[in-house]
Amino acid sequence: MRILGIETSCDETATAVVEDGTKILSNVVASSQELHQKTGGIIPEIAAREQIRCIIPVIEETIKPFSHSAIDALAVTVGPGLIGSLLVGVETAKTLSYVWHKPIIPVNHLVAHIYANWLESKPEFPAIALVVSGGHTDLVLMKNHPSKGRDKLRWLGGTRDDAAGECFDKCARVLGLGYPGGPAISAAAEKFTISNCKATSSAYFQFPIKLPRPMIETEDFDFSFSGLKTAVINEVKKLKDNQQFNNITIQQLSFEIQEAITDVLVEKTIRAAEKFKVKSILLAGGVAANKRLREKMKLEIGNWKLEIDLHVPPPPLCTDNAAYIASFAFFNFKPLPWKKIKVEPGLTITGEV
Ligand code: KG4
Ligand code: ZN
Repeated sequence: MRILGIETSCDETATAVVEDGTKILSNVVASSQELHQKTGGIIPEIAAREQIRCIIPVIEETIKPFSHSAIDALAVTVGPGLIGSLLVGVETAKTLSYVWHKPIIPVNHLVAHIYANWLESKPEFPAIALVVSGGHTDLVLMKNHPSKGRDKLRWLGGTRDDAAGECFDKCARVLGLGYPGGPAISAAAEKFTISNCKATSSAYFQFPIKLPRPMIETEDFDFSFSGLKTAVINEVKKLKDNQQFNNITIQQLSFEIQEAITDVLVEKTIRAAEKFKVKSILLAGGVAANKRLREKMKLEIGNWKLEIDLHVPPPPLCTDNAAYIASFAFFNFKPLPWKKIKVEPGLTITGEV
């Protein structure tokens, strides 16, 4: 079965054709990220206007190799996301469903992120999924595909304030590293690690900055990242007051931010995997593209001597795209009449669509 996925929840206009939930036949992503770099964050109105500009050309490019009769169904993100952006994808998908006489499956963007793992491998249930995106941080237990029953996807915990991606983005802004913050902090941290190895009287020891690992000791599976951001603001202020805010201290702080965020994410995920005796750990969402997170998760599975398969999608499939939207729809094939489909900007990971 070939499904055309449509994803417009934020600043990416993405469409893809995926066969049987696993094989990407065509995958196109247009991003308005460059526009948002100028403002250091997303302005919803600008993102929505870009969605309108891009949606038809992106669909045309995606289905160029096929006639529409080769497509069996449509899948579209209905939430969560920015209402203006979501509306563009949802109304386009409904129109195509009506005109082409194809079934349409409404998709929860957060659960769908996890399906990037089915595009590269065949994860076994039960699984713990860590979904870390720009606006969400959730830890869920997956006993099977969610459409198989109400209890198949169980929410274990999530962030009480800022999401992990949001923390990367906000800290990057404080450091003057631009948007999106995750890749920028990761690149700066890597430079610091290299320069630290070379230096004899290393910058790291001259400015030993240690940031908190919020909630790392708590028994629950919740997270909190806003305190970390405040700690970074305070450190930057101190460095500026002492005329020590420079490239080296920026790199050093980036290194420590990345270590603090990934330490907490890894610790809680491994503890959940141990507790629920799962067969797989699935990383998902934009932050899952982080190299250090992937490395540390693998290392900790080894340290805990857990017989668990770690699944990590390649970085371009971690960030927003429509291939995982189509994959989710294949494994959770629940079409609705197009008239019943509506945007759900505030949808949670366990929210029904
Ligand atoms: O899943 P995603 O592409 O969009 C949302 O649904 O939010 O996630 C975007 C988030 C941003 O916060 C971005 O800074 C973060 O993912 N991100 C990363 C990396 N690449 C993207 N964070 C850390 N390291 C990365 N390499
Ligand atoms: Zn996303």
